[in-house]
Amino acid sequence: MIELALKNYCEKIDKRLDILLPASSQYYKAVSEAARYSVFAGGKRIRPVILLEFYKLFGGDDDCAYNFACAVEMIHTYSLIHDDLPCMDNDDMRRGKPSNHKKYGEAMALLAGDALLTESFGVASRTLGIEPERIVRALGFLSKNAGIDGMIGGQVIDTCSGEPATEEILKKTYLLKTGALIKASAVCGAILAGATDRELEMAAEYAECVGMAFQIIDDILDCSGDEKTLGKPVGSDKKNSKTTMVDLLGVERCRALCKDLTDRAMGILSDFEGETDLLKELTEYLLKRNY
Ligand code: IPE
Ligand code: IPE
Ligand code: MG
Ligand code: MG
Ligand code: MG
Repeated sequence: MIELALKNYCEKIDKRLDILLPASSQYYKAVSEAARYSVFAGGKRIRPVILLEFYKLFGGDDDCAYNFACAVEMIHTYSLIHDDLPCMDNDDMRRGKPSNHKKYGEAMALLAGDALLTESFGVASRTLGIEPERIVRALGFLSKNAGIDGMIGGQVIDTCSGEPATEEILKKTYLLKTGALIKASAVCGAILAGATDRELEMAAEYAECVGMAFQIIDDILDCSGDEKTLGKPVGSDKKNSKTTMVDLLGVERCRALCKDLTDRAMGILSDFEGETDLLKELTEYLLKRNY
């Protein structure tokens, strides 16, 4: 059921991404090709789905928010391209294919990521049918959460802070490097639909629980997943001598923590008045995922 709903969403999101992504015919067109390569390599698209579902939850007509949802996926894809670079995690596979730098070289991968990030804000700003004030507010929230106090900040702690990895520091890192974009998805969807401040707070809290669980499960899959199913290398964290939550708590306590976070997220969904069936299914599905 949820698989089918996600597949339908993916088709619509991919169709829109195909229209939105610049396909330059100039002599520098290689960067468009490289960006498209990673975007269409087959991600789960959970961030745009969360955005669209929160938009609908608060009364939005889902078609209007597609540009914004695609923009978030563009930012996410850029973060993956850069995350795989030799100066970061140095991983050779992503979404079941050679990483962007393996296919196009490091310079082009860097530029393809830069291009996706830069173009994403143009794409989001071309949202039609929604009040401009809401779009501007959502853009601000997205940039904050993709930036220094969001995903980038988390990547900094993860890659080069030199801090000893305590449970507290890891939680902060996960909330930023992974949670922030998931939070931006939920909250921007809610902002675009005109949700109240209390509803925005609840959307943020929901996404923080989901984001934290999502990264802990990613850590578990990094040590025990199947490379083919995952579409990315297993053992990347160990290779990079990264301490993860699995190292600190062990798999069983990690799973219990993820279950707890998922229960909290489900509780928040139940407190909303609108339709949350798909979000509930998605939240449970993310807990059980194997890729
Ligand atoms: C991978 O995100 C990076 C993390 C934040 C853990 P996803 O697991 O959502 O990757 P795709 O988009 O499906 O490839
Ligand atoms: C990265 O976390 C999160 C990002 C912001 C890209 P990981 O480095 O664990 O993600 P994967 O395992 O490479 O997808
Ligand atoms: Mg990383
Ligand atoms: Mg990585
Ligand atoms: Mg990982």
